[in-house]
Amino acid sequence: MALAYFLSVILAMEVMVSGYRFGEAGGLSMNYYIMTCPFAESVIKDIVNRALQDDPTVAAGLVRMHFHDCFIEGCDASILLDSTKDNTAEKDSPANLSLRGYEIIDDAKEELERQCPGVVSCADIVAMASRDAVFFAGGPVYDIPQGRKDGRRSKIQDTINLPSPSLNASELIRLFGQHGFNAQEMVALSGAHTLGVARCSSFKSRLTNVDPNMDSNFAKTLSKTCSAGDTAEQPFDPTRNSFDNLYYNALQRKSGVLISDQTLFATQRTRGIVNGYGLNQAMFFLDFQQAMVKMSLLDVKEGSNGEVRNNCRKIN
Ligand code: HEM
Ligand SMILES: *[C@@H]1O[C@H](CO)[C@@H](O)[C@H](O)[C@H]1NC(C)=O
Ligand SMILES: *[C@@H]1O[C@H](CO)[C@@H](O)[C@H](O)[C@H]1NC(C)=O
Repeated sequence: MALAYFLSVILAMEVMVSGYRFGEAGGLSMNYYIMTCPFAESVIKDIVNRALQDDPTVAAGLVRMHFHDCFIEGCDASILLDSTKDNTAEKDSPANLSLRGYEIIDDAKEELERQCPGVVSCADIVAMASRDAVFFAGGPVYDIPQGRKDGRRSKIQDTINLPSPSLNASELIRLFGQHGFNAQEMVALSGAHTLGVARCSSFKSRLTNVDPNMDSNFAKTLSKTCSAGDTAEQPFDPTRNSFDNLYYNALQRKSGVLISDQTLFATQRTRGIVNGYGLNQAMFFLDFQQAMVKMSLLDVKEGSNGEVRNNCRKIN
């Protein structure tokens, strides 16, 4: 355990260093706000921690929010924009189901505007809040470069690029590949499903046939959940608020909730990765944090390609 921890510290440092190098080239850096808003990180962390002490289930919402933000239009807080009379935003897509935690981002933004007006972008707040939520829930601690600018576009039709829960492993590998992730990184990122729940509407299609990739007792559990209606929640693993490797153990027991979860174990190409993470949580944590840093850099906007919003829900 001590050795695993030691290794994870070393690797976290490497991620920091490589992130920093990438950052310098790309205009992002680890100490981006050091002169302009030195307490930005701790302000965000305190607000996230306080909110999660009140309601630990929102950690999942913050992690998912960052994923949806980055996979559509890059990590530019496009997910936070409210619809207007001329534009229906990403937020109002059916794929937003159960996206939660918007108020936490608003609270952090408000406090940062008081301390250093017009400085800290909403995109950076989402990235840091997601990172803090992972740590709060017992996951790895890692550093992410800052300096993302906020985007001005948020369109409901762009959300078709989000992965559907009915995708199989080859489709997931292809879709994540379009964002520069390999199969192992895709499996590691899917481990975010160690947090939170899915609603019946996201998996009920699995219950109409006998599925050889689903444990028969687990099938009964899912049916029971769905007997309470389409919005009834099913935790992805037995510990919905703890960031751990039990999600992978659930897949090994054929008790994954979504088709897109169970396919990772059912498919030869990704099964070994699931087994590895199921056996070795430290390895999962390392791969997850590296993949999250990489995700946090997707199509980042800089300079005049973006702005620092005054209010995360509206373009300036
Ligand atoms: C591999 C492709 C993925 C698919 C198909 C997928 C799909 C889904 C679906 C359908 C739900 C449940 C929504 C609902 O029924 O309310 C969900 C929840 C969630 N997803 Fe994913 N997801 C994927 C990858 C990711 C990634 C990469 C992350 C983050 C790094 C993530 C984080 C989450 C979290 C934390 C929840 C729980 C939300 C909550 O409890 O509020 N997912 N996902
Ligand atoms: C999600 O989208 C639905 C419409 O599909 C909308 O009614 C709802 O307010 C949205 N939820 C959030 C949290 O934005
Ligand atoms: C995955 O889905 C695609 C598209 O539906 C299909 O062509 C392919 O055969 C599927 N792969 C597997 C392994 O089931």
